[in-house]
Amino acid sequence: MRTLIQNATCVLPTETRQADVLIEDSKILGIDPPAGAACDETIDAEGLHLLPGIIDDHVHFRDPGLTHKEDLHTGSLACAAGGVTTFLEMPNTIPPTTTQEILSAKLDIAASKCVVNYGFYIAASTENLDELKKATRTPGIKIFIGSSTGNLLVDDQDALEAIFAETTLPITAHCEDEATVRANQARIEAEGYTGHSDHSKIRNHEAATIATARAVDLSRRHKHRFHVVHVSTANEIELFADHGGLLTAEACPHHLFFNVDDYDRLGSKVQMNPAIKTKADNEGLFAALLDGRIQVVATDHAPHTLEEKDQPYPQSPSGLPAVENSLPLMLDQVHQGNCSLDQVVSWMCDAPARVWDMVGKGRIQEGYDADLVLVDLARSAEIRNENQTTKCGWSPWHGKTLTGWPVRTIVMGRTVYADGKFDETPAGTEVLFEHERGGFWASTS
Ligand code: DOR
Ligand code: ZN
Repeated sequence: MRTLIQNATCVLPTETRQADVLIEDSKILGIDPPAGAACDETIDAEGLHLLPGIIDDHVHFRDPGLTHKEDLHTGSLACAAGGVTTFLEMPNTIPPTTTQEILSAKLDIAASKCVVNYGFYIAASTENLDELKKATRTPGIKIFIGSSTGNLLVDDQDALEAIFAETTLPITAHCEDEATVRANQARIEAEGYTGHSDHSKIRNHEAATIATARAVDLSRRHKHRFHVVHVSTANEIELFADHGGLLTAEACPHHLFFNVDDYDRLGSKVQMNPAIKTKADNEGLFAALLDGRIQVVATDHAPHTLEEKDQPYPQSPSGLPAVENSLPLMLDQVHQGNCSLDQVVSWMCDAPARVWDMVGKGRIQEGYDADLVLVDLARSAEIRNENQTTKCGWSPWHGKTLTGWPVRTIVMGRTVYADGKFDETPAGTEVLFEHERGGFWASTS
């Protein structure tokens, strides 16, 4: 099957220009094929931009175990609606993904119900070092150096040293210092909780900075690749200097666009871990994206039902859905003149593909996978709870009008979403990771 996408303005690896893109089955066969090249289907994309499909390397899809919040089918549909063609999912499911066997079972569930491509992290526990050493078919190891949703926690220094010393997969970690969080919590509980904004006093700047410094130190000493997820403070960015290609970092839309001033309006809808911080932190994170100290934008999509979220603090769970809003949020930044389309593609496509050594992802280039998204940069629309695809059925950005929206999402050569309609066939495929063949981030960055 050959499909020709004509007349789109394409964000190619080294330039953005109008080009025709020929797809054969699941691959990009060529850019600007010879006139008259045979094809079975033509898509006229006049007036639209063609981007590599978005790679969201940080989602929580709750399958198995908490599928009343989300499952791998609904989560993958939400991806498709948001222009996300590949996701990497975190291991705090039930059971947690702590063994190769559990990981393989998750891959099997995904094969049976995902409309986009998928991969799954393996979790560190206090007793699975041997599993981590031999794990395959995974982007890397996730450590909860501070606890969050679920009961995964490894904060013993010897255990952390062993993981960084004895494993070879890239590592990522949830960095909020457990001792600081617990001490803050005890103090605030004794004073009496005042509302959801207490969350940012408990999971404060200090908690994030101490834990990130600790992980960065481990990465440097053990020369081990490390990806800092959900950086929430400007302070942490100062820790990333001179990383020598081993250290990469992520910012999430909620830490870029929400801060403590939003608790009054949104309450528990903006309660997540790490907690939102200040306007100065929003600005510091955006500046770090612009100058390259943070390389990746991903969502930390962490759905809970509104009923669960509606509980008073601290019963209300932490986390918010975002996977179908992240691309329009970033395209709206392009519209506002705060960044370029090339930068958005770098943060959301090329960088995550490289951080995790994905084979054939993140670029519109001959031989790469035909994971693509057509966007209309001029389209304005409002995010509405009732239009969300995620099973949890709400968005913290409800009521916000954005300019720049995905209109068609193509996964491995198949259109899975176009103009509000889905092809729900489970056409997603398992992501392959080059680090199983040696890795390339340091050599090609
Ligand atoms: O707010 C969060 N929710 N942060 C996390 O680290 C986990 C996530 C979840 O799984 O609910
Ligand atoms: Zn997360």
